[in-house]
Amino acid sequence: MDNVSTSTPLSDRDSTQIAELISVNGRTFKLIIDQVRIDSIVSDLADKINSDYAGKQIIFLIVLKGSIFFSADLLRKITGDCRVETIRAKSYGTEMKSSGNVELDMTCSDVSGKHVIIIEDIVDSSRTLKKVSQKLKEQNPASLEIVSFLSKPTERVTDIEVKYVGMEIPNSFVIGYGLDFAECGRQYPDIYALHEE
Ligand code: IMP
Ligand code: MG
Repeated sequence: MDNVSTSTPLSDRDSTQIAELISVNGRTFKLIIDQVRIDSIVSDLADKINSDYAGKQIIFLIVLKGSIFFSADLLRKITGDCRVETIRAKSYGTEMKSSGNVELDMTCSDVSGKHVIIIEDIVDSSRTLKKVSQKLKEQNPASLEIVSFLSKPTERVTDIEVKYVGMEIPNSFVIGYGLDFAECGRQYPDIYALHEE
């Protein structure tokens, strides 16, 4: 079956127009977090960061591709001085479970002596963030913290600390708002979880 959405463009929809169920790569997903909720979570995270980093320049490091929507929304709410860098990480392939093998492309400017915040879409096993953090620490940043829109706390296999978490969710596979299933489903403005038929 083709990927199907009855989702209405953001500009002119109300809550009755958001698709409750969508089909992506032949699997059904159910709405769990709508765009209004997403916006309020992002605002709360931005408020905390703005207050904690008042007067300091922040280097935001976006972990592509999953964080594209979250970082765009979060950065537009940052009031202080900042710079933006991107890196790429991959661990899921076409499965709904991490391969355990994290591929990284860490090409970004030197962060020595800088206040760095990594922007991640979701923390699952935390292997990705552990590896990214270890690489960055080699450059001796002045400080290093993580902001993640979602977190699945039951799945951790490392001791990494995520200072700013938007929302904790149970261990289900989610898509939308940048998150993908085998590269599909990133474009939905809301977040959906796998619906066990
Ligand atoms: P971790 O290394 O196991 O923490 O996995 C982190 C990365 O896997 C995230 O940055 C996501 O890109 C991806 N990921 C983890 N859980 C999900 C999910 O439920 N849906 C889509 N991608 C996910
Ligand atoms: Mg990611």
